[in-house]
Amino acid sequence: MATIYQATASAPVNIAVIKYWGKRDTKLILPTNSSLSVTLDQDHLRSTTTARADASFEQDQLWLNGKVDEIKAGGRLATCIAEMKRLRKETVEAKDPNAPKLSSYKVHIASYNNFPTAAGLASSASGFAALVASLAQLYNLTVSPSILSLIARQGSGSACRSLFGGFVAWQMGSDPSGNDSLAVEVAPREHWPQMQALICVVSDDKKGTSSTSGMQRTVETSALLQHRIKHVVPERMAAISKAILARDFDTFATITMADSNQFHAVALDTEPPIFYMNDVSRSIIALIVEYNRVSIAAGGGYKAAYTYDAGPNAVIYALEENLKEILQLVISYFPQRPSEFKDVLGLFSKNTTDI
Ligand code: PMV
Repeated sequence: MATIYQATASAPVNIAVIKYWGKRDTKLILPTNSSLSVTLDQDHLRSTTTARADASFEQDQLWLNGKVDEIKAGGRLATCIAEMKRLRKETVEAKDPNAPKLSSYKVHIASYNNFPTAAGLASSASGFAALVASLAQLYNLTVSPSILSLIARQGSGSACRSLFGGFVAWQMGSDPSGNDSLAVEVAPREHWPQMQALICVVSDDKKGTSSTSGMQRTVETSALLQHRIKHVVPERMAAISKAILARDFDTFATITMADSNQFHAVALDTEPPIFYMNDVSRSIIALIVEYNRVSIAAGGGYKAAYTYDAGPNAVIYALEENLKEILQLVISYFPQRPSEFKDVLGLFSKNTTDI
């Protein structure tokens, strides 16, 4: 019987606390600044991908959530698949003459997201990370996650960070080839297990301005972006890495919220302006600001940090001890759920249903 070459891998989304926004090379997806994220580690918000190689397949083919998705020649998907085949050829087939020549077979790929696609919930991040991880397994590659991140990056920039769990930096690099623009681990998940993320799905509609076209417009028109790249992000990357290593939630929260604010300010500084947050998003910010103010006035510290990507949904980072209170607060101020909040998910939390 013929051998079946097939592998399945899954990857979670990551939510940036220092935002990536802007490309210096649109083909290789090289960013204009470094970024840092937390990979969400529960079963919600994952992409699961199965890849199969067979000599009888006539073309590479992708099914996304059960529907055929076009693999455009020269597009990002085609690039990732071609790069993975190249790695197979160079690191396996060239070294072992008996290794099956899988790099010459076409692949069929089926990918599922267990959450709404393109709703500002980083589906492209988990999607491309799962694609690369499933092909790495199919091809028996023994390369590091950082090497795989070089390829996932060319699918969707933020995807490079989903190849690691825990706290992850995407170092922008300086080489025009892109070979030093990769993801590295800042700290593993176990380093700070108390850190939790609460996702408030304000809307699961498809987002209005894609990150690709939004970034391009910002790079072309925003003076604030240039200031951010040169004078803000480098210091923030260093300071938040230090805060993570020291498990310093006050500093982590201050920087996370400031960076979300600046990303949305940069979107507004774009011509024409881009609005990703809506009135519900802004009300959640007001709620978190007041919640922290009361805690600090009583001699405590920050209890929660909001952050928003290219969409209206809030991600609230908090320590586990405060998560229940925050969820109750959010629910009491937004009683219209689920019409306003399609869903409220406690991620990272071991007993989400107990909250
Ligand atoms: O990787 P993309 O093209 O989906 O861009 C992601 C951009 C943000 O989510 C807004 C920020 C980030 O660093 O993830």
